[in-house]
Amino acid sequence: MSKHFLNLKDLTKTEILDLVKQAIDLKGSEKNSDYLHGKYLALIFEKSSTRTRVSFEVAMSQLGGTASFLSTKDLQLGRGEPLEDTAKVISSMADGIVLRTINHSTIEIFAENSSVPIINGLSDLSHPCQLLADLTTYQEENGDIEGKAVAWIGDYNNVCHTYLEAAKILDFELRIGCPNQFLPSHLKENKNLKIFDNPNQAASGASLISTDVWVSMGDEEEIDERTKAFSKFQVTTELLDEADENVIFLHCLPAIRGQEVTSEVMEDERSKVWQQAENRLHAQKALLISLLG
Ligand code: CP
Ligand code: NVA
Repeated sequence: MSKHFLNLKDLTKTEILDLVKQAIDLKGSEKNSDYLHGKYLALIFEKSSTRTRVSFEVAMSQLGGTASFLSTKDLQLGRGEPLEDTAKVISSMADGIVLRTINHSTIEIFAENSSVPIINGLSDLSHPCQLLADLTTYQEENGDIEGKAVAWIGDYNNVCHTYLEAAKILDFELRIGCPNQFLPSHLKENKNLKIFDNPNQAASGASLISTDVWVSMGDEEEIDERTKAFSKFQVTTELLDEADENVIFLHCLPAIRGQEVTSEVMEDERSKVWQQAENRLHAQKALLISLLG
């Protein structure tokens, strides 16, 4: 397995499926173990977080190790210490580092200068830890994802980018329903990617519908433009009805009810968002054991 986890494509299909299986096994086992006894994980975050921070801290505690949360405002990084120097120093003491950064290049610079595994806890480009939890939830509910249709409704953002990586590696069809002006110009349809500017067409036949906020952290100045452009790209119960009869709904959270998703969908029996959020813990325990163990 690759030393770092910067993008989902750092893993092979077999490695991803093994992590999903191990996540499900860990979920069904005694929660405390000593796989990472004496290990220390540093969490360096430039942006807000609820799930990622808590799941990594609890994961390390349950695996017999420790973790600490380091806001960049409190580190010397915030006063101008170079990324390279910070990475060398922290990695000389810690056993792993999780980073949540504004720019993906910050995580790459850390990886180049770190002697221990670097894990992407979300960047502007990608959110690979989220996909480990989403794939675990899909496996629990609907079994193997290979050959299935998955609809992404809304913004082509960091989470959607990682869904596209997952589609290529695990060979499912990602059906993106997004206004054209918010799609990267290089995106081309292929066996694993279909593009629609109509959410109903994207949802048709899907066994998973996923979405995320219209305005990601860092995009706040586009709030008016985005709210207008995405207004028809809301996940509603009517949209779920267009999909496969076994469809599940996922959202990485936090969700804004009344924008990308209705309150009704969040509480619908097809919504598995709370199970998905809990699975961040189990999937990351599996990841930490394989990278730090
Ligand atoms: N889904 C997710 O990463 O949530 P947080 O921003 O709360 O960590
Ligand atoms: N796309 C969102 C995900 C938050 C977990 C963001 O980057 O803000």
